[in-house]
Amino acid sequence: MWDERYSVPEYVYGTEPNDFLAAHGTHLTGPVLSIAEGEGRNAVYLAGLGLEVVGVDSSRVGLAKAQALAAQRGVSIETRAADLASFEPEPGRYGAVVSIFAHLPSVIRNRLYPLLVRSLKPGGLFVLEAYTPAQLALATGGPKDEDMLMNSGKITAEFPGLKPLILRELGNLHYGRSAVVQFVGKKIP
Ligand SMILES: C[S@@+](CC[C@H](N)C(=O)[O-])C[C@H]1O[C@@H](n2cnc3c(N)ncnc32)[C@H](O)[C@@H]1O
Repeated sequence: MWDERYSVPEYVYGTEPNDFLAAHGTHLTGPVLSIAEGEGRNAVYLAGLGLEVVGVDSSRVGLAKAQALAAQRGVSIETRAADLASFEPEPGRYGAVVSIFAHLPSVIRNRLYPLLVRSLKPGGLFVLEAYTPAQLALATGGPKDEDMLMNSGKITAEFPGLKPLILRELGNLHYGRSAVVQFVGKKIP
């Protein structure tokens, strides 16, 4: 499904980084693991800050576009084609983990999230932005399956090993706006 979506010349999500990530990028240390990286806008931005970046996604088409964007911008990124349902990040390797609109069913999150927290160095940061269930009433995209949508309560429950530095829900039911949850969590040493 994602390979098909990305099989167009343009970048479906653009080539500029996600705003929430860009607001916090300079606080991150590497290496950075970016899950569901897609076409590379966030990985390329982070590499441009001088950070080592590993972008994981199941879409080879998306990752090929990510590498093309990196080449065009003169930066280097590592991309790994993998299904997050079975992905095994290296323990204690990453200064930051980034999850931008990486909507996953709870059955995948329940296995993956503890592994992502384990993959952080002590003091490492987890940056996440995702749609909340309020997005279901809007016509601005996102999964239609509520299980894949996040909110503050799910984040608190699913990241017990992280201290929330930012945890907030934004957006409302005005047509055309998006409803998101934003999270920056720090791995407690
Ligand atoms: C909404 S896009 C977000 C892309 C990127 N994070 C961005 O902000 O531009 C969601 C991405 O999740 C990836 N994805 C969904 N399920 C996945 C899975 N089980 N394993 C790996 N990647 C997955 C898709 O291939 C797609 O690139």
